[in-house]
Amino acid sequence: MNFKDYIRVIPDFPQPGIRFKDITTLLKDGPAYRAAIDSLKEMVKEKEIDLIAGPEARGFVVGAPLAIALGVGFVPIRKSGKLPGNTVEAAYDLEYGKDRLAIHSDSIQPGQKILIADDLLATGGTIATSIDLITKLGGEIVGAAFLIELSYLSGRDKLSGLDVVSLVTY
Ligand code: PRP
Repeated sequence: MNFKDYIRVIPDFPQPGIRFKDITTLLKDGPAYRAAIDSLKEMVKEKEIDLIAGPEARGFVVGAPLAIALGVGFVPIRKSGKLPGNTVEAAYDLEYGKDRLAIHSDSIQPGQKILIADDLLATGGTIATSIDLITKLGGEIVGAAFLIELSYLSGRDKLSGLDVVSLVTY
């Protein structure tokens, strides 16, 4: 399946010059959504994985079904102020803007093997910050899986040494 056929590109969103990769058109197509999750599963299934961690919000629609497909749990990484329990947090830069990410302090036990999942690897800031949070809790990152990689933003360079897989590249 050519997943690019299901991803809509919207020019000048959320600001001029950004060509936004809209996955809602893929998500609403049941067979395409399932095929995308199945393909990611095939790419990571040989790994030893205890938990999937995914950043809000679009990381949830990739990470949670991938966790179910692999038969492991899911840990949400959220924007600051959303998680009710004790958290560790870190500030980060986005492709367009700044924010803070948080994870529940007790969500990962030291030594657990964590795969990070998200819809999009752009600058890599979100994933680098997610890795920092998981590492602070003692988690061991075994890889990162994305639907989309924007290779022209070189996010992979921030994740050197990490096994990164993506379904489509722009
Ligand atoms: C988007 C996307 C990734 C991140 C990629 O999320 O879903 O998480 O940006 O960019 P980066 O590699 O440059 O960090 P966003 O923060 O827009 O939040 P959303 O998923 O809630 O829309």
